[in-house]
Amino acid sequence: MSITQKVLFFLLTITLHTNPSFSATETFVFGGCSKLKYAPGSPYENNVNSILTSLVNSAMLTSFNNFTIQGSTQQDTIYGLFQCRGDLNNGDCARCVARAVSQVGTLCVDSCGGALQLEGCFIKYDNATFLGVEDKTVVVSKCGPLIGYDSDALTRRDAVLGFLGASSSDGSYRPYRVGGSGNIQAVAQCVGDLSPSECQDCLSDAIGRLKTNCGAAAWGDLFLAKCYARYSEGGSHSHGDKDNNSNDNEIEKTLAILIGLIAAVALLIVFLSFLRKVCEKGKDGK
Ligand SMILES: *[C@@H]1O[C@H](CO)[C@@H](O)[C@H](O)[C@H]1NC(C)=O
Ligand SMILES: *[C@@H]1O[C@H](CO)[C@@H](O)[C@H](O)[C@H]1NC(C)=O
Repeated sequence: MSITQKVLFFLLTITLHTNPSFSATETFVFGGCSKLKYAPGSPYENNVNSILTSLVNSAMLTSFNNFTIQGSTQQDTIYGLFQCRGDLNNGDCARCVARAVSQVGTLCVDSCGGALQLEGCFIKYDNATFLGVEDKTVVVSKCGPLIGYDSDALTRRDAVLGFLGASSSDGSYRPYRVGGSGNIQAVAQCVGDLSPSECQDCLSDAIGRLKTNCGAAAWGDLFLAKCYARYSEGGSHSHGDKDNNSNDNEIEKTLAILIGLIAAVALLIVFLSFLRKVCEKGKDGK
């Protein structure tokens, strides 16, 4: 390899390795706010700010936590929690929760409660208590395009989902579950305030609905209020959410700029080595 090739290779390796995981955890999935509003500048507002701050700080240390901020009255008492996807390390969990908190801040201005799900984490706060309450309300049910699975692939998909939904014989607590077969991948996650049996019940429900609703679709998402199950085929899990796309566009732009820069550097190196050769020839000639 010439120096030029080495430089190009090195830069390309860096760009290809630093980009994808970022969008995977901080992509927007859903968000919602309670209709009730609090008066701006009220003690309630301080309590919302302190519960959101608690979430961000705690996410640096653990993947789940719940909080209660006592208000002067029952109406001003706020409950909150966050749950990171089970495979995230503390750094990624904290970044995800910080992003979710900043997004809920713009989405739910002056709302008494809010909830937001990014790919890698979920946050929720409200003055009506929801901690430790199993809630199987359907929040998101989306399916990809039908791709006419052959019966083998469909069997594999159902086997993977069956594996994720299976209760462990010892009733142990498994809030995060992943599985795959061939090019089918699936993931399931409970919010950590559920008991082992509630988590199992919630996931059985989510997985059952996912199978019925999405049939032979390339991917499927089923988010209930306290757990979710998702699968995708061949890593083609592009959902076409607005935020999702703008994120991807940003990354594409960054990549385009980087590749442009790399090309410029490469050209400069080629030009310089050309100049050097010309100079050397000039010297030799004297
Ligand atoms: C959740 O909150 C309860 C009280 O509200 C507390 O006892 C419990 O320790 C909290 N759970 C975690 C994991 O911090
Ligand atoms: C939450 O706060 C709002 C506004 O102060 C109030 O109207 C509502 O009753 C409160 N909800 C509960 C469960 O206390």
